[in-house]
Order: sequence, then structure tokens, then C-alpha cells
Amino acid sequence: MTELKSMSKDELTALHNKYLKEYNNYRDMKLNLDMSRGKPGAKQLDLSNDILKGLDDYHSANNFDARNYGILDGLPETKKIFSDLLDIPEESIIIGGNSALNLIYDTFVRLCLFGTLGSTPWLKLPKVKILCPVPGYDRHFSICEELGLDMIPVPFKNDDLDMDIIEKLAAEDETIKGIICVPMYSNPTGAVYSDSTVERLAKMKTAASDFRIFWDNAYAVHHIYKENKLADIFKLAEKYENEDRIYMFFSTSKITFPGSGVSLISASKNNIEEIKKRMSIQTIGYDKINQLSFVKFFKNADNIMKHMEKHASILRPKFDMVIEILEREFKENKMCRWLKPDGGYFITLFTYEGCAKETVKLAKEAGVIVTNAGATHPYNNNPKDDCIRIAPSYPYMEELKTAMEVISSCVKVATTAKLLEQFTAIPE
Ligand SMILES: Cc1ncc(COP(=O)(O)O)c(C=O)c1O
Repeated sequence: MTELKSMSKDELTALHNKYLKEYNNYRDMKLNLDMSRGKPGAKQLDLSNDILKGLDDYHSANNFDARNYGILDGLPETKKIFSDLLDIPEESIIIGGNSALNLIYDTFVRLCLFGTLGSTPWLKLPKVKILCPVPGYDRHFSICEELGLDMIPVPFKNDDLDMDIIEKLAAEDETIKGIICVPMYSNPTGAVYSDSTVERLAKMKTAASDFRIFWDNAYAVHHIYKENKLADIFKLAEKYENEDRIYMFFSTSKITFPGSGVSLISASKNNIEEIKKRMSIQTIGYDKINQLSFVKFFKNADNIMKHMEKHASILRPKFDMVIEILEREFKENKMCRWLKPDGGYFITLFTYEGCAKETVKLAKEAGVIVTNAGATHPYNNNPKDDCIRIAPSYPYMEELKTAMEVISSCVKVATTAKLLEQFTAIPE
């Protein structure tokens, strides 16, 4: 096939019309497929159904009656499982409610209202900026935007954070108060931060003494193809005497049931004390019945890892299918490229610049909903307009196949339309 960019106007028009015809056939099918969020599919949810069977005993290991008020920071056995699973000390953990995002939000709000360990509350400062690796997770960006924190997008380099840029910005600007990131199987790129990146984040000099790393380790055990290992940011931060810099978040949303799981925040001794003090005003305690049900179901961290292998075996064919269809559809013409992750929930598709929004719009018109193009960037603004997040987990295989064929068709229509723009006569 002739290189796309060297095609004549006639050749490109013919190709565009061919793609348009294929696209119109899909549109006539009146599909209704939603791939907008990274939700587990029904088979994955079924893996945890026994958790719903209820408790035959309401007492925790220390004989505490889980039905009653008490124990703000979580049942000891719940902490123990997470401690073994994530290799973090039990005393560094506070168990939260059903959502890690909720804990992230609360952590930001506390910093804004009260500051931390004696620092000025962020909302009392004229400007506070947060570094946001892009492409990133839209709900992180919404939290910053809602609280009026300026977001500075920072790029990835070779599928890892660009630490030269991050170190420079953090060192020279004291209004930069933190970074929010997903270090393992990043949402959406699937990037896993290298040991050197983790060490540099733990070590780097920051102009702000209350600089904080929001370490959203949502996919820490969500391996699909390969089990990666993330360097221990707490140990490294301790080595460089920056242990108060880190807040780590995790939840079982994509282990058991999203919205009905158990979340946690892990941090230094100083931070944990401070958080508990503030939390005690906010709640008498989180849902211990849920914490106990989780413990009774899994019993130990090894069983969680076995359970995650079952998730992986359901997800793998779906990820394989997405990649296979992309490889097949774009074998001849390189209209897009994609990142194949080792784990997590997403495949990121990069189109030609200026084609992502149009691709998503066309897909929507053909009944296939994907996350808004732009959502991967702060303020919904990806200046290159080239990034689309694909979430393969929720649809059934047949639906996913159709959805990917439609999305591929949309990429082709949008790309050829974009290339044709160069032939549009500019009036003299
Ligand atoms: C990176 C990341 N953090 C947090 C969440 C939400 O976690 P939770 O359900 O525990 O609030 C998600 C869900 O997609 C996510 O991708």
C-alpha cells in the first residue's frame, strides 16, 4: 500500500470513501456497547460471589464485635492481609471505606483545609500546583480541578515518568505541592515505574517542604501477562528521610466488587497519627462487617494472589483480542499505535494528532461508547488530541470484537478525513 502521507488527493479520497462505506455498515447495525469505564465483567464479579453468603460469626480476631461502633483504623486481621499482600507494615495502614478514590479525595481536602504536620493549609496559599503524569486518570484530575489546584501535565518518556522534568519542576517551584500518579499498570498506559524512577521520586529535592506523593497503587496485584515488581517507595523514602512525603492508596474494587470493596491508605507514623486524628472527627469508623467478610472470604494474601490469577485468565483473552484486531486492521497502514500492558485495566491507543476526538465521536454515533478523548489529560485538554483509552474488561468477547472493529473503522475514517484536509483549497 502507498504510504498514507504520500497519497494523491484522488487515492486518499477513494480510500476514505471505502472506509466510510464500511463505517456506515456498522452504524446501520444500531449497536449499543459501553466501553467507557474499566469495570470488571460479569464472570470476574462471579469469582467473589461467596463473599455474599454472610458471616456466621461477627467477632474479629481480637474478639471485637464487628457489628458495633469502634476501631477507627480497621480490624487487625484486615490490616494483616493487606500488610502481607502489599509488603507494608500493619501499623502504617488505615483501612477505609468502600473506595480508595474517596480516601484520595479526603487526603487532598485535609491538606487544603488543615495543611500537614504544621504546614500552611493549601487553600490559604495564593497558588498550589500538582504534577499530573499524562496520559492519566480522569478522576484524579477532577479532584484537583474541583479543589482549585492547578494541574501541570508531565509527560511519560519510554513508558516511564520523565524524572528529569519532574525533578526540575519540583526543585524550582515551591507552589508545586505534589504529584498524583499510578505507579504500576498506570491508568491508562499500563506503565510500571522503574526502580530508578521510584528512587528518584523518594529522593528528589522539592522546593515545597510539604510536597506529597499520592501513590495510587490501584493495580498493585492486577497482573495479566507478567508479574512486575514495584520498588518499595516507603523504604526508599525512609532512606532519604522523606518518609512523610508518601501517601499510598489501594482497594479491593477490582479484586472483589467495585463500590463494595475495602480500601486503605498507608503512610508514615507521623502521617498516620495525623490522619487518624482528623478522621476521628469525620467518622466513628468504617464498615467492619465488610472488612470481616473480606477476611473470611480470602483468609490470607496467598489466596488473593490465586484469585487474581483467575481474574487474569478472564481478562487475558479480552486484551489479546483487542491487540489482535488492532494488529490485523493496522498491519498495512500505520494509522495508530497502541501500548500493550502487562496488567491493569486499559489499552491506550494513539491516533494521528487531531484524530482522537473525531474517532470517539464517530464510535459514539455507531453505538460504541468509549471514554471521552481528552479525559486522559487535565482539564479534558490533550493538545495533541491523539489519545484514546480502551477498557476491554466489561463487554463479552463477541461484543468486544465488534466494538474493536468499529473503533478501528472510526480511526480509519477520522485519519483519512484529517489527511484530506491538507488538500482543502485555501482561498487566495
Ligand atoms: C487508578 C485508579 N485509582 C482509583 C480507582 C478507583 O478506586 P476505588 O473504586 O477504590 O475508589 C480507579 C478505578 O478505576 C483507578 O483506575
